[in-house]
Amino acid sequence: MIRDRVPLALRRGAVPWDRQRPTWRDAEPALIAAALERARQRPSGNWYVLGAAGGITADRPFGRTVGGVEVVAWRDARGRLVAGPGACPHLGAPLKDAVVRCGTLRCHWHGLALNGSATAGWSPLPAHDDGVLAWVRLDAVGGEEPLAAPVLPRRPPPGSAVAAVFTATGRCEPQDVVANRLDPWHGGWFHPYSFVDLTVEEPADADSFAVRVSFKVAGRVVVPVRAVFSAPEPRTVVMHITEGEGAGSVVETHATPLGPDHDGGPRTAVTEAVIATSPRPGFTAARAAAPLLRPLMRAASARLWRDDLAYAERRCSLRGAGRLPG
Ligand code: FES
Ligand SMILES: [Fe+2]
Repeated sequence: MIRDRVPLALRRGAVPWDRQRPTWRDAEPALIAAALERARQRPSGNWYVLGAAGGITADRPFGRTVGGVEVVAWRDARGRLVAGPGACPHLGAPLKDAVVRCGTLRCHWHGLALNGSATAGWSPLPAHDDGVLAWVRLDAVGGEEPLAAPVLPRRPPPGSAVAAVFTATGRCEPQDVVANRLDPWHGGWFHPYSFVDLTVEEPADADSFAVRVSFKVAGRVVVPVRAVFSAPEPRTVVMHITEGEGAGSVVETHATPLGPDHDGGPRTAVTEAVIATSPRPGFTAARAAAPLLRPLMRAASARLWRDDLAYAERRCSLRGAGRLPG
């Protein structure tokens, strides 16, 4: 059946952008603030997303400052993720510029070798590879009760999904990124190039928002879906597609605090993982569906995040000035 293979719809009676229903009365500041506060109360176990798991290789070190702490990561001789302090314990060389050979990181200033175990005053940090993302645990930054592993959202089984990871950086704090994602009402107004016919359902519970929305493909061609947003931990918002094309797919948005920029302002990395699957069984079917999932994949596009980071940065500067409404 062609309908099983091509889940596109032709949008009828399209409403022009300025004639759509305003959502500002529904998007109550107190409602968003309460959802954000609940997210911030959840445990993270002090885990922070470093980046895409596939972006940390055996070829070269990966460096990132997380919560003001310099971190280096690489793959050891068995391909396992290793993470630790990013300054050499000898004279402080930046280990992100070191060399990795056969799983051993070699400092390029005086040749100190690190194989992932404690050496010469350097000790590894707890690290976790969930198959899509790499995480590091920083107990001194988080200050929470440590957990053995990060709090992960429900995902499609690895064999039946296609994953893509997108990263951007903004001048804001993680809570600004999370607040943006906990405001689903802005989609049709702020991102009309991607989303149309967006309605937010009456909340079934206090911990999630369900949205019916159509992803624009081209012209009047759209992919209608139902998506549920929730925050499993303080720096993650996840969108589960529950109905329509790509049902079972997940878009995870993770906010990682980096450290102050040159002006002392906060910086946050947004790592967005799109883990797309299809109701049709099997990996081959998911791969075959990938072109049709492009509108969903576009949720990770640079254009959306340019706008959403502008929202988050604006929220951050208003907050800093004590001018945040609500
Ligand atoms: S600074 Fe790394 S070995 Fe000297
Ligand atoms: Fe957005």
